[in-house]
Amino acid sequence: MSIYKPSESRYEKMQYRRCGNSGLLLPVISLGLWHNFGHVDDFENCKQIIFTAFDNGITHFDLANNYGPPPGSAEENFGKILKSNFAGNLRDELIISSKAGYYMWQGPYGEWGSRKYLMSSLDQSLKRLQLDYVDIFYHHRPDPHTPIEETMQTLHDIVRSGKALYAGISNYKADEAKTAIEVLTKMGTPCLIHQPKYSMFERWVEDGLLNVLEENAVGCIPFSPLAQGLLTDKYLKGIPKESRASKEHGFLKMADITDDKLNVIRQLNTIAIDRNQTLAQMALAWILKDKRVTSVLIGASKPQQVTDAVHCTDNADFTSDELMQIEQILSS
Ligand SMILES: NC(=O)c1ccc[n+]([C@@H]2O[C@H](COP(=O)([O-])OP(=O)(O)OC[C@H]3O[C@@H](n4cnc5c(N)ncnc54)[C@H](OP(=O)(O)O)[C@@H]3O)[C@@H](O)[C@H]2O)c1
Repeated sequence: MSIYKPSESRYEKMQYRRCGNSGLLLPVISLGLWHNFGHVDDFENCKQIIFTAFDNGITHFDLANNYGPPPGSAEENFGKILKSNFAGNLRDELIISSKAGYYMWQGPYGEWGSRKYLMSSLDQSLKRLQLDYVDIFYHHRPDPHTPIEETMQTLHDIVRSGKALYAGISNYKADEAKTAIEVLTKMGTPCLIHQPKYSMFERWVEDGLLNVLEENAVGCIPFSPLAQGLLTDKYLKGIPKESRASKEHGFLKMADITDDKLNVIRQLNTIAIDRNQTLAQMALAWILKDKRVTSVLIGASKPQQVTDAVHCTDNADFTSDELMQIEQILSS
């Protein structure tokens, strides 16, 4: 078995942004392991994607208890890759996050936001990851039935215990995020970061959430910035075998790829070509133009997709004319 040796030049090109007003810098591109890292996937390919990411300065890897399939297997695979290839001080060069909130095990304690669930789930995640701590632990979605004080107290206690270094929230709407941030702040554990869905196709965060995060100096890491692959050129000539839309367990469904959507994607692709970049690069640069965004959280099924993404900063500026054209296409 050959031993992975990280590239010596890994920190030369990647840009890092401060997460809110914390001490933590995150790469502008982070890699998530929601799809493509489960036991159903090719382990060698998983390794090559992680190595390519780290070689290109991506220090942040995002997981959750339920990533797979089967649920938990992405954490198991990532734990194996870490153990065999990131020995010694390399752990100190990595920011690893996990989450709990969605369904993970049967019975009344296997999902949502109770202290019982969050504590047990993090312990399970640490075992699968073969780690003593994660860098960021998130509450994955708001729980309408558990008092926010209980959920936030648990995040606070987890940080105090050293099992996570920072606390985060995900999928909280603007008013829910404001309350969670205030409760955490009162307890003495700042909310480091919020992880919302945000892309050219899904822009709800622009209606209040980004302002709440800025006012409270909390970082923002949008997930699915490529709309699960729609904001690339991959579906313009049909649905490729092996693509997320063609997989039974993929969350992107064939029905999501409508003629109207393809028409919009085709027009966006023309602008990207004029800008000398791929549509994926333009879609990422378009989110990163807002400095309230700390990092964009991409997924990848191949190492080349990671390389494609990291080059989004080669042309990160937009003319007002380009922005206007993009707005027109998106609102058509
Ligand atoms: N907090 C939450 O509730 C939540 C929810 C969802 C996701 N997330 C996080 O966000 C991460 C990213 O989500 P996502 O995977 O939906 O992100 P995404 O970046 O929008 O989509 C990733 C998919 O797009 C395709 N792709 C990526 N780069 C490409 C390129 N250069 N050219 C062509 N196709 C490309 C690949 O699909 P193919 O497989 O088709 O090649 C890839 O798997 C997840 O892994 C997870 O960590 C969090």
